[in-house]
Amino acid sequence: MKNYLLLLTLFCLALMEVKAQNPHKDDFLTSDFHKKRREALRALMPPNTVAVFFSNPVRNRANDVDYVYHQDPNFFYMTGHKEPHSMVLIFKDNLNFNGKETNEILFVRQHNALMEMYEGGRLGKDGAPEKLGINMVFEGTEFGDFNLDFSQFDKVMFYKFKDDVRDHREKGDLYEMIQEFKTKVGYESKDLAIEPHKTNIDLRSLDQMMAKLRGIKEKEELDLLRKAVDISTLAQNEVMKAIKPGMSETEIQGLHEFIFKKYRAEYEGYPSIVGAGHNGCVLHYIENYKPEVEDGELILMDLGAEYHGYTADVTRTIPVNGKFSENQKLIYDLVYKAQEEARKICKEGTSFSELTKITQKVINEGLVELGIYKSLNPEDITNPDTGRNRYYPHGCCHHIGLDVHDKGEYAELKENMVITIEPGIYITEGSPADKKWWNIPVRIEDDFLVTKDGCEILSDLAPRKSEDIEKLMEQPSAFDNLVLPELESHH
Ligand code: GLY
Ligand code: MN
Ligand code: MN
Repeated sequence: MKNYLLLLTLFCLALMEVKAQNPHKDDFLTSDFHKKRREALRALMPPNTVAVFFSNPVRNRANDVDYVYHQDPNFFYMTGHKEPHSMVLIFKDNLNFNGKETNEILFVRQHNALMEMYEGGRLGKDGAPEKLGINMVFEGTEFGDFNLDFSQFDKVMFYKFKDDVRDHREKGDLYEMIQEFKTKVGYESKDLAIEPHKTNIDLRSLDQMMAKLRGIKEKEELDLLRKAVDISTLAQNEVMKAIKPGMSETEIQGLHEFIFKKYRAEYEGYPSIVGAGHNGCVLHYIENYKPEVEDGELILMDLGAEYHGYTADVTRTIPVNGKFSENQKLIYDLVYKAQEEARKICKEGTSFSELTKITQKVINEGLVELGIYKSLNPEDITNPDTGRNRYYPHGCCHHIGLDVHDKGEYAELKENMVITIEPGIYITEGSPADKKWWNIPVRIEDDFLVTKDGCEILSDLAPRKSEDIEKLMEQPSAFDNLVLPELESHH
């Protein structure tokens, strides 16, 4: 009997092992995750209130082509539903609707054989209950005649409507649902503008609640974020090995994004930034156009894989030829020092502004030491045209998650927040610094999980120290042997 049990245990362990190693495992968020998030929202909602979320609009790229659809992150967080033309009502308390008790109602697109032939199947109100775990589901077309009196609630909480919702002239589309909703809640009534106390509409509280919820990551979200960050840093490493003078910025972007896709990250969480030399000084440079990156230049690469909705945000700055010049290294190591000093104080209880201040202090003092700033006087370190710090003109930290600049509270750090620390120095051509510093852009951006007494660097798979970057860049690359035909050779 004992042996039998032992064998059974071993067998089960072996099965678990197989499952753990299966690279095709289904690691999407479950309907249970989203259900618990709705419960968590209810716990924050005052009595007798309803929260309403709308899906993102479909945005047009040009003519017959729309942008790849991206769900509104709040709507996704609450429902897991990825389709457009949807709306969800989340009630604080159970209410009786058409003889059924419920505390949530979802509206989805109706089936359409022709459109589904082009775009693939829609979940529909037949498929939604099982897939999403929401029992009461209707079609958007049913909302107009919907018998729900919104005046019964103390508060109807929602976000301001996005102003780029197109009228698709389809029954029950997002445009129509919003129009009907506005009528039902009296959105356009004079009361709202003139006597706000007369309305139960609340356009502010929901955002505060969402920041509270989304800013603290659940275990399932952390798993996805770790994966997104691992993929992004793995790509940084492979590109460090592969990069050579003469490659184009576009090609380097392509190497990163190929690796994202190889590891099944569906999208980039934001447009990839790959800028060599002075292009690196443009903070959100996304053209990535330079045809040949040059020996002697630094290249700044800020890219984040989005895995099942969650995005990393990682920047590495490396010398195209594999070796930092003396001046490049001085600037690089200063940015590294700023990030390190922030990392050391990054823990529960530290404020975002303390992180910002410490990176500013290290960078400003370091630039004075290098003779790049004359002094710490505001007139010496401020660019009068932008009002920002001349060489470190951006913030240092933000939450990441479903959005790259994620929703979250920006006061004190709390356990299980995931944030970036991303100091940078960008010395543009023509700036007052000595010419020898011109066109040096450096940003080092990493993703940190905040813990009670410190933080974990999620992105430390990719080297951050200048010496470690140089060492990795000496290694051979899988792309070294990738030889493709000349484009002209086909003619
Ligand atoms: N990639 C945008 C940012 O670093 O905030
Ligand atoms: Mn960032
Ligand atoms: Mn970034």
